[in-house]
Amino acid sequence: MRKKVVLVGAGSRARYMFAKPFAAELKDAVEFVGLYDVNQIRARTLSEECGNVPVFQDFRTMMETARPDTVVVASTDATHHEYIIAGLDTGCDVVTEKPMTTDGDKCRAILAAERRSGRKLTVTFNLRFVPYMARVKELLRQGVIGQVQHASVDWFLDRSHGADYFRRWHSQLEHSGGLLVHKSTHHFDIVNWWMDATPELVHAFGRLAFYGPNREARGSRCLTCAHKQACELYFDLERNDLHNRYYLQAEGEDGYIRDKCVFRDEIDIYDTMSVQVRYQNGAQLSYSLVAYSPEEGWKMTLTGTEGRMEVAAMHSGPLSKGVHSERIRIIKPNGETVSYDIPVSGGGHGGGDERLLDMIFRGGIPDPLGQHAGSTAGAMSLLIGAAANVSIAEGRVVTIQELLGGNKI
Ligand SMILES: NC(=O)c1ccc[n+]([C@@H]2O[C@H](COP(=O)([O-])OP(=O)(O)OC[C@H]3O[C@@H](n4cnc5c(N)ncnc54)[C@H](O)[C@@H]3O)[C@@H](O)[C@H]2O)c1
Repeated sequence: MRKKVVLVGAGSRARYMFAKPFAAELKDAVEFVGLYDVNQIRARTLSEECGNVPVFQDFRTMMETARPDTVVVASTDATHHEYIIAGLDTGCDVVTEKPMTTDGDKCRAILAAERRSGRKLTVTFNLRFVPYMARVKELLRQGVIGQVQHASVDWFLDRSHGADYFRRWHSQLEHSGGLLVHKSTHHFDIVNWWMDATPELVHAFGRLAFYGPNREARGSRCLTCAHKQACELYFDLERNDLHNRYYLQAEGEDGYIRDKCVFRDEIDIYDTMSVQVRYQNGAQLSYSLVAYSPEEGWKMTLTGTEGRMEVAAMHSGPLSKGVHSERIRIIKPNGETVSYDIPVSGGGHGGGDERLLDMIFRGGIPDPLGQHAGSTAGAMSLLIGAAANVSIAEGRVVTIQELLGGNKI
């Protein structure tokens, strides 16, 4: 029987990850019965693209009228908890985009709602479904480097993808939790999952070194900026049909400006971040994220009792050109080296998006690696970022348990 599903959020991710597949390739598994977004223009635009799915003016009416089995949440990060909690309390299962939420208080409220409702919350960590990431998990589980004791992770966002977070709601801590929550939740989740470990202590530094008021030649938005000819980060909102229809034409409704200046004063998130994590089993993570790199990608080294694993992927810049496979390299204590080349797959996030949707909405798909993530994984990854934010603000080591109000998960 098809699942009756409603969707909260009509922005970019809601559109390509959920709404379009619900109306097409997942039609046999999903009955798409309602759509809600605070911006009704955006919601109606999306509805028209998806067979005129009913658009509701408020969430409660949608729940009462559409009577869904599952609520999918793809609104801005700091609003996820409202719909997750209301969905669970109405007796629905909930599927939320990452990050599950943005701070410890909201996280505790979500966990309590899941416990009292007896329903299930899924967090869509699509990175777990990328074949390269899954192969690393498989090899670590086979013990190829023994028990992992240390992970070193460097993540680079380039000046296209990275800059985009500084144009809109992500650029304010209150809406996104900053990149250490919004973006790093993916990376912390991957490390937690690979190491099969629970974080305990967090220390971090963060700085706004490149974006924000670090440049004299700046304005309020690209569309009207006097510096648009000279600025290498100029973003042309009118050129792209989707940006034009979903954001520029919808501005009048809620004042969501998609092309704000990345050098404006009000930005309060960091673009340069270093985080240290100690896990309950004693393992350590050393993590960095930079959002103005000349190339996009990541590098990780995992050291275990029986050797070292090196993994990396470059998505833009000279090293990304002509890459058809990604390599996992294992170095044993006796010097022996083993390499695995994993073909790069097409599709959203290396095909991860499609595989994740199938597992959530079709069901019955075996999950030997534990790729389907729930609230514990959602909490543990966002809480590292939330703890890092507290650590940066207060200059101290922060325990995960204090963000959970002293409770254990
Ligand atoms: N897993 C991934 O790879 C991935 C990629 C991109 C985005 N995301 C996540 O998807 C979510 C949406 O991101 P996006 O890029 O589509 O952003 P977006 O700005 O394009 O869309 C956000 C939508 O939320 C709506 N909204 C704002 N406040 C709301 C509220 N109180 N109630 C209902 N709707 C509200 C906005 O009007 C907008 O339509 C975020 O949580 C983001 O972290 C995940």
